[in-house]
Amino acid sequence: MKHILLIAAALFCACLPARATYILIQTDHTQLVLTAQEDGALRTRYYGKRIEAPWQFLNDDSRFHGPNGSGPMTVPTTGGKYVREAALHVRYADGSHNTELYYTGHKSEYRNGVFTTTVMLRDPVTDLAVQLIYDAYEKEDVIVAHTEIVNGGKKTIELLDYASSAMHFEADRYLLTHTWGGWATEMQVERELLGHDTKVIESRRGVQTTQNNNPSFLLSLNTAEFSETAGDVIAGALAWSGNFRLAFDRDDAGRLSVIAGISPFASAYPLAPGETFITPDMVWTFSSAGAGQASRNLHRWARNWGVYRGGQVHPTLLNSWEGAYFTFTTETLLRMIDDAAGMGLEMFVLDDGWFAKDFPRNNDAAGLGDWEVNTAKLPEGIDYVASYAHDKGLKFGIWIEPEMVNPQSNLARRHPEWVVQSPGREIYQERNQWVLDLSNPKVQDFVFGIFDGVMKLSKNIDYVKWDCNRVIQSFGSTYLGKEQDRFFVEYCQGLYSVMKRIRTKYPDVIIQCCSSGGGRVDYGALHYFDEIWTSDNTDGDCRAYIQYATNLIYPPFIMGAHVSAVPNHQSGNVTPLKFRFDMACAGRLGLELQPKNFSARDRALAERCIASYYQYRDLVFTGDLYRLSSPYDSDYYALAYVAPDKSRAVVYTYCLRYQHRTGSQHPFRIDGLDPQRKYKVRELNVDRSCWWGDGQTFTGDFLGTGAFNPDLPQKYSSAVFYLEAE
Ligand code: DGJ
Repeated sequence: MKHILLIAAALFCACLPARATYILIQTDHTQLVLTAQEDGALRTRYYGKRIEAPWQFLNDDSRFHGPNGSGPMTVPTTGGKYVREAALHVRYADGSHNTELYYTGHKSEYRNGVFTTTVMLRDPVTDLAVQLIYDAYEKEDVIVAHTEIVNGGKKTIELLDYASSAMHFEADRYLLTHTWGGWATEMQVERELLGHDTKVIESRRGVQTTQNNNPSFLLSLNTAEFSETAGDVIAGALAWSGNFRLAFDRDDAGRLSVIAGISPFASAYPLAPGETFITPDMVWTFSSAGAGQASRNLHRWARNWGVYRGGQVHPTLLNSWEGAYFTFTTETLLRMIDDAAGMGLEMFVLDDGWFAKDFPRNNDAAGLGDWEVNTAKLPEGIDYVASYAHDKGLKFGIWIEPEMVNPQSNLARRHPEWVVQSPGREIYQERNQWVLDLSNPKVQDFVFGIFDGVMKLSKNIDYVKWDCNRVIQSFGSTYLGKEQDRFFVEYCQGLYSVMKRIRTKYPDVIIQCCSSGGGRVDYGALHYFDEIWTSDNTDGDCRAYIQYATNLIYPPFIMGAHVSAVPNHQSGNVTPLKFRFDMACAGRLGLELQPKNFSARDRALAERCIASYYQYRDLVFTGDLYRLSSPYDSDYYALAYVAPDKSRAVVYTYCLRYQHRTGSQHPFRIDGLDPQRKYKVRELNVDRSCWWGDGQTFTGDFLGTGAFNPDLPQKYSSAVFYLEAE
């Protein structure tokens, strides 16, 4: 990539400002304005669409009477005049808790589409130094912020709160959209108007940090209504795969502070003199055109910067899990590979169950930790199966769960000290397994070695599914001794350090981030992983909600989306095969079933759907998402991916609830098209043509009026359309 340094070190001074000054952090359409007063108080005055003369905020600062600590402090600290939710709370060696930061200077530089602004602050009493780093991604309208905290004093201090970033807003109403969930029901949307109190979204699970809540949100300003297309919307996502905390603190004047960062839960982090703590990134975007644009900003940023090899097309696949579970032989796998190749898929992924000899992995009670091939089950070994797949023209993938160990394993016997535990207490099992202590560098080496060792099983391994099937309980580290407060932070840092080594050695392997499904879906993990396993729940109905909400923040191309058998193994629900395909085709398409159980008719439909996917797959990976109908606000779910040059689009429509309507045609407005261009519309995955206009040509503005009204007569009717401009 070409890096051009346009402006270096624009401004730097190491003293209080002689006069009030303002700092502009801006992208093509957005602006963040900070002001520093003569006394050094640094306030965040504005984040929104670009305005002409932002210096005017300096005049307006006069309404924040009083010194440092009053008004929307850029870094709200515990101490001084400030009494609300803090982004930074330090306990000093003398036991005191007060920090007051003063602006000492800032500098900016521009590289290849990114403006980086560094703002320096200092507490003159304790010599604590703080740098705020803002990377402004011009074209994507995204600002990524993190904080570096330096102990400039002579004694070790404790960081009690150390958020990545705080933002402040002034609006009449704040509608918060965020997600809750659990295993197989990840990413369920909740919307709420914020009251005068502090709303906290937090994870204390150590790993599987996103199974319940995701570290992300949308905030619609001055409205009680969620709108795709209108109004000011902020979106935020913390890039961290460990414990997190998002606080929404609304004061008596109605101002809102959003403070996002690592959760301080059991993590009073010690910082020695001269040491620096670097927080994870907080990703922000602003849209003045509703939630749709906010999501598209994040998706574009994810494609260009935020996700490992973002936007690169990934192969379709057959995964062995729900089709074979733990019960397979080499023969079973070869026949699945034959079927995958026959149906036009591009990869076969061997899931759980292939490893461990002394404690064979024939169920989930044994084997994790012992990563040698179970030759009793697969006497010919992995290379034989992987090479067979390659000979058939398929890529090959394999499953691992390297952070975990079963008590029933050689590893648990050899290294009991590597297990996460608290002295003298029972180490609780979940899914019959324990967690390995990734804060320990020896364990990091071991986990890297698992990946490295598995890659050596065959030169034909193209894809690794990295699983993580439990949360941390009875937390503690034998390695960290008395410094247990480091544990949660250093576990996650240890994971990232392993991933860095893996990516250095294996830059081209596709790695899926799976954690019992969507237990680790965040931009921290996605810096290293190519995709996620969106959920173990592949029921097309449930997936409508899970995929809709995942895409509020994360791009469609990261979603592993599989067609599985019915009744669904998680929900017991029965949906038509076409509906399941139409839903899975909105992500990275895969199958997770035993293909030999297909009827001839179903197999033919499957082959048709797979073949048609390749016509528009690039739009899943690089198109812009337009949500046309939300499963929460309508009986229908519909979305479109539109090529950035608006020359092509794919439109998905689903009926989720049958309302006994006499006319079953439902109107959708296809947003995002070029109003002037003419598009030929063709229905794909057809088992019964369902739009009168199929095969005809229409202008983009006509398709945006609601005249696009496919016939979706029943619950689980669905249709997919491909649009090409003339
Ligand atoms: C949980 C994952 O989400 C599943 O897809 C599968 O890989 C199992 N683990 C295997 O144990």
